Amino acid sequence: MKAVRYHRYGGPEVLQVDEVPEPHPGPGQVRIRVQACGVNPWDVKGRAGRRSGGNPMKEPVIPGVEAAGVVDELGPAVAGTAVGDAVFGFTVGGAAAEYALLAHWAHTPDSVSPVEAGGMAQVAETASRGLRELGLKAGDTLLVHGASGGVGQAALQLAKQAGVTVIGTASPHNQELVRSLGATPTTYEPGLPTRVSALAPHGVDGVFDTAGTSLEELIEIAEDPARVVTIANFTADAVGARVTSVPYYDALDQVAALARTGDFTVRVAASFDLAEAAAAHALVETGHAGGKVVLTVG
Ligand SMILES: NC(=O)c1ccc[n+]([C@@H]2O[C@H](COP(=O)([O-])OP(=O)(O)OC[C@H]3O[C@@H](n4cnc5c(N)ncnc54)[C@H](OP(=O)(O)O)[C@@H]3O)[C@@H](O)[C@H]2O)c1
Repeated sequence: MKAVRYHRYGGPEVLQVDEVPEPHPGPGQVRIRVQACGVNPWDVKGRAGRRSGGNPMKEPVIPGVEAAGVVDELGPAVAGTAVGDAVFGFTVGGAAAEYALLAHWAHTPDSVSPVEAGGMAQVAETASRGLRELGLKAGDTLLVHGASGGVGQAALQLAKQAGVTVIGTASPHNQELVRSLGATPTTYEPGLPTRVSALAPHGVDGVFDTAGTSLEELIEIAEDPARVVTIANFTADAVGARVTSVPYYDALDQVAALARTGDFTVRVAASFDLAEAAAAHALVETGHAGGKVVLTVG
Protein backbone atom coordinates (compact mmCIF):
# COMPACT_ATOMS: atom_id res chain seq x y z
CA MET A 1 0.00 0.00 0.00
CA LYS A 2 1.00 3.64 -0.31
CA ALA A 3 1.97 5.39 2.94
CA VAL A 4 3.50 8.71 3.84
CA ARG A 5 6.68 8.16 5.82
CA TYR A 6 9.74 9.95 7.12
CA HIS A 7 13.10 8.23 7.40
CA ARG A 8 14.79 11.01 9.37
CA TYR A 9 13.67 13.91 11.52
CA GLY A 10 13.44 17.28 9.81
CA GLY A 11 11.18 19.78 8.08
CA PRO A 12 8.10 18.89 6.03
CA GLU A 13 10.40 17.98 3.11
CA VAL A 14 11.40 14.71 4.83
CA LEU A 15 7.91 13.33 4.14
CA GLN A 16 7.68 10.98 1.17
CA VAL A 17 5.21 8.45 -0.20
CA ASP A 18 6.54 4.87 0.06
CA GLU A 19 5.21 1.46 -0.90
CA VAL A 20 4.93 -0.53 2.35
CA PRO A 21 3.31 -3.82 3.50
CA GLU A 22 -0.36 -3.60 4.52
CA PRO A 23 -1.04 -3.83 8.26
CA HIS A 24 -3.41 -6.43 9.74
CA PRO A 25 -5.42 -5.96 12.93
CA GLY A 26 -4.47 -7.47 16.26
CA PRO A 27 -6.89 -8.25 19.12
CA GLY A 28 -9.46 -5.52 19.63
CA GLN A 29 -8.42 -3.66 16.47
CA VAL A 30 -10.05 -3.08 13.09
CA ARG A 31 -8.43 -2.25 9.79
CA ILE A 32 -9.92 0.52 7.67
CA ARG A 33 -9.49 1.55 4.09
CA VAL A 34 -8.56 5.13 4.93
CA GLN A 35 -10.61 7.89 3.32
CA ALA A 36 -9.09 10.76 5.29
CA CYS A 37 -6.77 11.35 8.22
CA GLY A 38 -6.11 14.40 10.35
CA VAL A 39 -2.74 16.15 10.52
CA ASN A 40 -2.09 17.41 14.03
CA PRO A 41 0.58 19.44 15.86
CA TRP A 42 1.54 16.12 17.51
CA ASP A 43 2.53 14.69 14.09
CA VAL A 44 4.50 17.79 13.20
CA LYS A 45 6.41 17.70 16.49
CA GLY A 46 7.15 13.99 15.97
CA ARG A 47 8.43 14.53 12.44
CA ALA A 48 10.65 17.40 13.61
CA GLY A 49 12.20 15.14 16.27
CA ARG A 50 10.74 17.19 19.11
CA ARG A 51 9.27 14.08 20.74
CA SER A 52 12.36 11.89 20.36
CA GLY A 53 14.16 12.89 23.54
CA GLY A 54 17.27 13.33 21.38
CA ASN A 55 17.32 9.62 20.41
CA PRO A 56 17.89 8.56 16.77
CA MET A 57 15.01 7.04 14.77
CA LYS A 58 14.83 3.23 14.86
CA GLU A 59 12.70 2.80 11.71
CA PRO A 60 10.71 4.92 9.24
CA VAL A 61 7.54 6.42 10.70
CA ILE A 62 4.06 6.73 9.18
CA PRO A 63 2.70 9.92 10.81
CA GLY A 64 -0.87 10.43 12.00
CA VAL A 65 -2.93 9.33 14.99
CA GLU A 66 -6.49 9.63 13.67
CA ALA A 67 -8.35 8.52 10.57
CA ALA A 68 -11.76 7.76 9.11
CA GLY A 69 -12.69 5.13 6.59
CA VAL A 70 -14.47 1.87 5.96
CA VAL A 71 -13.74 -1.28 7.98
CA ASP A 72 -12.30 -4.03 5.79
CA GLU A 73 -10.79 -6.44 8.36
CA LEU A 74 -11.67 -7.29 11.96
CA GLY A 75 -9.13 -8.39 14.53
CA PRO A 76 -9.96 -11.00 17.18
CA ALA A 77 -12.39 -9.98 19.95
CA VAL A 78 -14.04 -7.10 18.09
CA ALA A 79 -17.77 -6.73 18.78
CA GLY A 80 -20.33 -4.23 17.53
CA THR A 81 -18.49 -3.37 14.31
CA ALA A 82 -18.67 -5.16 10.96
CA VAL A 83 -16.79 -5.10 7.67
CA GLY A 84 -18.26 -2.26 5.61
CA ASP A 85 -18.98 0.04 8.58
CA ALA A 86 -17.88 3.67 8.28
CA VAL A 87 -15.87 4.56 11.38
CA PHE A 88 -13.47 7.21 12.70
CA GLY A 89 -11.00 6.99 15.51
CA PHE A 90 -7.44 6.65 16.79
CA THR A 91 -4.85 4.70 14.83
CA VAL A 92 -1.97 2.53 15.92
CA GLY A 93 1.06 2.45 13.64
CA GLY A 94 0.21 5.62 11.69
CA ALA A 95 -2.72 7.06 9.77
CA ALA A 96 -1.34 8.61 6.58
CA ALA A 97 -1.71 5.52 4.41
CA GLU A 98 -4.18 3.60 2.29
CA TYR A 99 -4.93 1.25 5.21
CA ALA A 100 -4.69 1.87 8.94
CA LEU A 101 -5.46 0.05 12.17
CA LEU A 102 -7.85 1.60 14.67
CA ALA A 103 -7.60 0.75 18.35
CA HIS A 104 -10.44 3.08 19.46
CA TRP A 105 -13.25 4.13 17.17
CA ALA A 106 -16.92 5.12 16.80
CA HIS A 107 -19.34 4.83 13.90
CA THR A 108 -19.30 7.85 11.57
CA PRO A 109 -22.72 9.56 11.45
CA ASP A 110 -24.25 9.74 7.95
CA SER A 111 -24.32 13.53 8.27
CA VAL A 112 -20.51 13.72 8.64
CA SER A 113 -18.37 13.55 5.50
CA PRO A 114 -15.35 11.23 5.44
CA VAL A 115 -13.07 14.29 5.29
CA GLU A 116 -14.66 15.82 8.39
CA ALA A 117 -14.61 12.46 10.16
CA GLY A 118 -10.89 12.09 9.42
CA GLY A 119 -10.25 15.14 11.57
CA MET A 120 -12.77 14.49 14.32
CA ALA A 121 -11.31 12.01 16.81
CA GLN A 122 -8.37 13.91 18.20
CA VAL A 123 -10.00 17.30 18.72
CA ALA A 124 -13.17 15.73 20.11
CA GLU A 125 -11.34 13.54 22.61
CA THR A 126 -8.99 16.30 23.74
CA ALA A 127 -11.67 18.96 24.16
CA SER A 128 -14.00 16.55 25.93
CA ARG A 129 -11.22 15.55 28.32
CA GLY A 130 -10.22 19.13 29.05
CA LEU A 131 -13.77 20.15 29.89
CA ARG A 132 -14.35 17.04 31.98
CA GLU A 133 -11.22 17.78 34.01
CA LEU A 134 -12.42 21.33 34.64
CA GLY A 135 -15.68 19.93 36.03
CA LEU A 136 -17.85 22.84 34.88
CA LYS A 137 -21.64 22.88 35.16
CA ALA A 138 -24.43 24.66 33.30
CA GLY A 139 -24.34 28.39 34.01
CA ASP A 140 -20.55 28.48 34.56
CA THR A 141 -18.23 30.67 32.50
CA LEU A 142 -15.18 29.29 30.70
CA LEU A 143 -12.24 30.94 28.95
CA VAL A 144 -10.85 28.90 26.04
CA HIS A 145 -7.37 30.15 25.11
CA GLY A 146 -6.75 29.17 21.47
CA ALA A 147 -10.46 28.99 20.64
CA SER A 148 -9.98 29.15 16.86
CA GLY A 149 -7.78 26.05 16.66
CA GLY A 150 -8.93 22.50 16.09
CA VAL A 151 -9.20 21.62 19.79
CA GLY A 152 -10.49 25.08 20.68
CA GLN A 153 -13.37 24.90 18.20
CA ALA A 154 -14.34 21.50 19.59
CA ALA A 155 -14.22 22.87 23.14
CA LEU A 156 -16.49 25.80 22.26
CA GLN A 157 -19.14 23.45 20.88
CA LEU A 158 -18.98 20.94 23.73
CA ALA A 159 -19.08 23.69 26.36
CA LYS A 160 -22.09 25.29 24.67
CA GLN A 161 -23.85 21.91 24.70
CA ALA A 162 -23.20 21.71 28.44
CA GLY A 163 -24.81 25.12 29.03
CA VAL A 164 -21.49 26.82 29.78
CA THR A 165 -20.90 30.43 28.70
CA VAL A 166 -17.64 30.73 26.78
CA ILE A 167 -15.13 33.47 26.03
CA GLY A 168 -12.56 32.44 23.44
CA THR A 169 -9.24 33.94 22.34
CA ALA A 170 -8.17 34.08 18.70
CA SER A 171 -6.35 36.25 16.17
CA PRO A 172 -8.26 39.32 14.98
CA HIS A 173 -9.20 37.59 11.71
CA ASN A 174 -10.71 34.63 13.61
CA GLN A 175 -12.99 36.63 15.95
CA GLU A 176 -16.09 35.95 13.83
CA LEU A 177 -15.24 32.25 13.63
CA VAL A 178 -15.25 32.09 17.44
CA ARG A 179 -18.53 34.01 17.60
CA SER A 180 -20.11 31.65 15.06
CA LEU A 181 -19.46 28.77 17.45
CA GLY A 182 -21.43 30.44 20.21
CA ALA A 183 -18.61 32.09 22.18
CA THR A 184 -17.67 35.71 22.85
CA PRO A 185 -14.34 36.36 21.13
CA THR A 186 -11.37 38.39 22.28
CA THR A 187 -7.78 38.58 21.06
CA TYR A 188 -4.82 36.98 22.82
CA GLU A 189 -2.51 40.01 22.81
CA PRO A 190 -1.23 41.25 26.22
CA GLY A 191 -3.88 42.65 28.57
CA LEU A 192 -6.11 39.58 28.43
CA PRO A 193 -7.16 39.76 32.12
CA THR A 194 -8.55 43.27 31.63
CA ARG A 195 -10.50 42.27 28.53
CA VAL A 196 -11.86 39.09 30.11
CA SER A 197 -12.98 40.89 33.26
CA ALA A 198 -14.88 43.38 31.09
CA LEU A 199 -16.62 40.46 29.35
CA ALA A 200 -17.17 38.42 32.54
CA PRO A 201 -17.45 40.87 35.47
CA HIS A 202 -18.20 38.02 37.91
CA GLY A 203 -15.08 36.12 36.84
CA VAL A 204 -14.58 32.80 35.08
CA ASP A 205 -14.98 29.33 36.57
CA GLY A 206 -12.31 27.66 34.48
CA VAL A 207 -9.69 28.20 31.78
CA PHE A 208 -8.89 25.67 29.07
CA ASP A 209 -5.53 26.45 27.46
CA THR A 210 -4.86 24.99 24.02
CA ALA A 211 -2.32 27.64 23.02
CA GLY A 212 0.38 27.10 25.63
CA THR A 213 1.09 30.81 26.08
CA SER A 214 0.29 33.54 28.66
CA LEU A 215 0.16 31.15 31.62
CA GLU A 216 0.57 33.93 34.19
CA GLU A 217 -2.35 35.86 32.71
CA LEU A 218 -4.50 32.72 32.55
CA ILE A 219 -3.89 32.04 36.25
CA GLU A 220 -4.68 35.66 37.10
CA ILE A 221 -7.98 35.32 35.21
CA ALA A 222 -8.88 32.01 36.89
CA GLU A 223 -7.83 33.36 40.32
CA ASP A 224 -6.61 29.85 41.15
CA PRO A 225 -4.06 27.84 39.13
CA ALA A 226 -6.05 24.64 39.76
CA ARG A 227 -8.82 26.12 37.61
CA VAL A 228 -6.47 26.20 34.60
CA VAL A 229 -6.25 23.02 32.51
CA THR A 230 -3.69 23.03 29.71
CA ILE A 231 -2.91 20.64 26.85
CA ALA A 232 -0.03 22.69 25.50
CA ASN A 233 2.15 23.91 28.39
CA PHE A 234 3.87 20.93 29.96
CA THR A 235 5.59 22.96 32.68
CA ALA A 236 2.34 24.46 33.97
CA ASP A 237 2.00 21.92 36.78
CA ALA A 238 5.05 23.50 38.44
CA VAL A 239 2.84 26.49 39.30
CA GLY A 240 -0.27 24.48 40.20
CA ALA A 241 -2.10 24.45 36.85
CA ARG A 242 -3.20 21.08 35.51
CA VAL A 243 -1.66 19.44 32.46
CA THR A 244 -3.75 16.80 30.74
CA SER A 245 -2.49 14.28 28.20
CA VAL A 246 -4.05 10.87 28.97
CA PRO A 247 -6.78 10.06 26.41
CA TYR A 248 -10.40 9.41 27.30
CA TYR A 249 -11.88 7.32 24.49
CA ASP A 250 -15.57 7.37 25.53
CA ALA A 251 -15.56 10.85 24.01
CA LEU A 252 -15.71 9.35 20.50
CA ASP A 253 -19.22 7.94 20.95
CA GLN A 254 -20.36 11.09 22.75
CA VAL A 255 -19.21 13.33 19.93
CA ALA A 256 -20.60 11.02 17.25
CA ALA A 257 -24.02 11.34 18.95
CA LEU A 258 -23.75 15.15 18.94
CA ALA A 259 -22.58 15.19 15.32
CA ARG A 260 -25.55 12.99 14.36
CA THR A 261 -27.94 15.74 15.53
CA GLY A 262 -25.85 18.53 14.01
CA ASP A 263 -24.63 19.74 17.41
CA PHE A 264 -20.97 19.11 16.69
CA THR A 265 -19.11 19.90 13.48
CA VAL A 266 -15.53 19.81 12.34
CA ARG A 267 -14.34 22.78 10.29
CA VAL A 268 -11.84 21.49 7.74
CA ALA A 269 -9.52 24.39 6.97
CA ALA A 270 -7.71 22.55 4.16
CA SER A 271 -7.40 19.09 2.68
CA PHE A 272 -4.52 17.64 0.70
CA ASP A 273 -3.68 14.38 -1.12
CA LEU A 274 -1.22 11.98 0.50
CA ALA A 275 1.40 13.18 -1.96
CA GLU A 276 0.96 16.71 -0.59
CA ALA A 277 1.63 15.72 3.03
CA ALA A 278 4.52 18.19 3.26
CA ALA A 279 2.20 21.11 2.48
CA ALA A 280 -0.27 19.86 5.08
CA HIS A 281 2.44 19.65 7.74
CA ALA A 282 3.71 23.12 6.83
CA LEU A 283 0.22 24.56 7.29
CA VAL A 284 -0.29 22.89 10.68
CA GLU A 285 3.17 24.10 11.72
CA THR A 286 2.07 27.73 11.32
CA GLY A 287 -0.21 27.32 14.38
CA HIS A 288 -2.84 29.35 12.51
CA ALA A 289 -4.59 26.88 10.21
CA GLY A 290 -8.00 27.97 11.55
CA GLY A 291 -9.39 24.44 11.72
CA LYS A 292 -8.47 20.91 10.88
CA VAL A 293 -5.95 20.01 8.20
CA VAL A 294 -6.75 16.67 6.60
CA LEU A 295 -5.12 14.30 4.12
CA THR A 296 -7.47 12.51 1.76
CA VAL A 297 -6.75 9.07 0.34
CA GLY A 298 -7.86 7.59 -2.95
N1 LIG B 1 -2.02 17.15 25.66
C1 LIG B 1 -2.86 16.62 24.78
O1 LIG B 1 -3.51 15.62 25.04
C2 LIG B 1 -3.04 17.30 23.45
C3 LIG B 1 -3.98 16.83 22.53
C4 LIG B 1 -4.19 17.54 21.35
C5 LIG B 1 -3.44 18.68 21.08
N2 LIG B 1 -2.49 19.07 21.98
C6 LIG B 1 -1.71 20.31 21.73
O2 LIG B 1 -2.62 21.39 21.82
C7 LIG B 1 -2.20 22.45 20.98
C8 LIG B 1 -3.35 22.92 20.11
O3 LIG B 1 -3.71 21.90 19.20
P1 LIG B 1 -4.67 22.26 17.97
O4 LIG B 1 -4.77 21.05 17.14
O5 LIG B 1 -5.90 22.91 18.46
O6 LIG B 1 -3.75 23.35 17.21
P2 LIG B 1 -4.18 24.47 16.14
O7 LIG B 1 -5.39 24.02 15.39
O8 LIG B 1 -2.95 24.81 15.40
O9 LIG B 1 -4.66 25.73 17.02
C9 LIG B 1 -3.73 26.62 17.58
C10 LIG B 1 -4.49 27.69 18.36
O10 LIG B 1 -3.53 28.52 19.05
C11 LIG B 1 -3.77 29.88 18.71
N3 LIG B 1 -2.49 30.58 18.75
C12 LIG B 1 -1.49 30.55 17.83
N4 LIG B 1 -0.46 31.33 18.25
C13 LIG B 1 -0.85 31.87 19.45
C14 LIG B 1 -0.24 32.75 20.38
N5 LIG B 1 0.99 33.26 20.17
N6 LIG B 1 -0.91 33.06 21.50
C15 LIG B 1 -2.15 32.56 21.74
N7 LIG B 1 -2.79 31.72 20.90
C16 LIG B 1 -2.13 31.38 19.76
C17 LIG B 1 -4.39 29.86 17.34
O11 LIG B 1 -5.13 31.06 17.13
P3 LIG B 1 -5.18 31.86 15.70
O12 LIG B 1 -5.07 30.84 14.60
O13 LIG B 1 -6.53 32.54 15.73
O14 LIG B 1 -4.04 32.79 15.72
C18 LIG B 1 -5.31 28.64 17.48
O15 LIG B 1 -6.48 29.00 18.16
C19 LIG B 1 -0.98 21.92 20.22
O16 LIG B 1 0.20 22.36 20.88
C20 LIG B 1 -1.10 20.41 20.35
O17 LIG B 1 0.16 19.74 20.27
C21 LIG B 1 -2.28 18.42 23.14
